[in-house]
This record gives sequence, structure tokens and C-alpha cells, in this order.
Amino acid sequence: MTLHLKVWRQKDANSPGRLESITAEDITGDMSFLEMMDLVNERLVQDGKEPVEFDSDCREGICGTCGLTINGQAHGPERGTAVCQLHMRSFSNGDTIVIEPFRARAFPVVKDLVVDRAAFDRIIQSGGYTSVTTGPHADANTHLVPKPDADRSFFAATCIGCGACVAACPNASASLFTSAKLTQYAMLPQGQAEREIRTIRMINQMDEEGFGNCSNIGECSAVCPKNIELENISRMRREYLRAIFKMGGQAEHTD
Ligand code: SF4
Ligand code: FES
Repeated sequence: MTLHLKVWRQKDANSPGRLESITAEDITGDMSFLEMMDLVNERLVQDGKEPVEFDSDCREGICGTCGLTINGQAHGPERGTAVCQLHMRSFSNGDTIVIEPFRARAFPVVKDLVVDRAAFDRIIQSGGYTSVTTGPHADANTHLVPKPDADRSFFAATCIGCGACVAACPNASASLFTSAKLTQYAMLPQGQAEREIRTIRMINQMDEEGFGNCSNIGECSAVCPKNIELENISRMRREYLRAIFKMGGQAEHTD
């Protein structure tokens, strides 16, 4: 296949960016999208040009670093798929593909297609620790967990922190991400000790980072490579109300 790429090139967050036209030749359907980008970069280097910067790590849909916007869709045209899992057979010979970084004020561009998603790390860090029993190791399975709660927790725990939900949301809301991280612990007995303070701190941090509010559009869940469900956002709102009633909005009571 020969593809006509329009790739976002930007020196840094403070420089203006532009779409650069690059022709990608000898692309096969079995290549992943990132392997196609690797080939493009090899040829740019051979021609003495600067390669296109993009993030990747695991290339197995696990680490969440490979977010790109492809033809206006975060992670591209396939549902439940990270960019690294997207194959070039999803495209046809002669296609034009527009490749841009995830766009949100809280995710400043580092260079080209790389954005700084440290705001997500700060939201997680703000949640603090989860208390555990110290001393002799408890037997596994000593805590009974209802099956539906265990399922909800495990589904929420599959969030890989990629940021596609933010990029797809017209409000650049981080509600799907934050609610998945909250749900993971709120549904389990081990997460009860700091349940309220964790909720208030993470939601406060989410707001401080400049993410917008959720207005129930649902585009976040539609682009999520892990199919994280909107019900997590409803749960986050309930958790917040619960925490406010129990703590009176005070986020500092245990330290
Ligand atoms: S909720 Fe989905 S889209 Fe958002 S960060 Fe997690 S895995 Fe990515
Ligand atoms: S490179 Fe790790 S999820 Fe895509």
C-alpha cells in the first residue's frame, strides 16, 4: 500500500504546529500502525530528515503510552483497540491519514505527537496510599467479595491511563479515567479504609489540573481501548456525595 500521511509536527508546547505531508510506501496490512510509523521514520532518517516523535512502550495494549488521534479519532477507527494494536489492514491503498497528538489543555505537546500526560499521574498520586494489614501474611481469599463487585473492580482496573477519553471529550474531561481509578478500590473491602479521602482528593486534583466537566456525551467510553463503561462516572458522582456527607468536604483528616 501507498498511503498519504498528514502528520502533526510541532517543536514544543510553545511553538506553532503544522501538518506535514509524508508518503508512506510499501506498507502491508499485517503491520501495526506503529510499525508503519517506524518504517516512515527509518526512511526520514535515511533521507537526513528529523523523525516524527511519538510515544510507545509495550506495543501490546497494556502501557497506555501510544495515544494518537487518527483521522480525528483517538486510537483510530477500531473500537476497543489501542494504536499499537491497530493494523494497517484497516486502511486502503491510496488513503490519506491525518495523524495528530491527543489534544487537551492539560496534556501539553512535548514534541510532534508526544504529549505530557503527567496530570494523570498527579491524580493517582493525590489518592494517596491504600492501607494494608501488616504483620503475618494473611491467607488469600480471606475477604469475601461479592462477584458483581469484584467484576466491576477488575473491569475498572483495566484502564491503562492512555488519555484517549480526555482527547475525545469536547470538554477534555478526565472523568472516565478518574472514575475508573476510584472504582477499582471503592468496590473492594481493601479499599474502604481511605475511601472518602481518596475520592475527594482525586476529584479535587482532577479539577486543579484543568480538565473539564463531564456532560454525559459518552465519546470517552466510545474511544476507550479498554471499553471502560460510563457507569463508572455515575459511581464517581455517588462516591463524591457520599464522601462529602461523611467528611463535610474536608480532604485532610488522616495525615
Ligand atoms: S478510561 Fe479508557 S480511554 Fe481513558 S485513560 Fe483509561 S483506558 Fe484510556
Ligand atoms: S504501546 Fe503500550 S498500549 Fe500501546
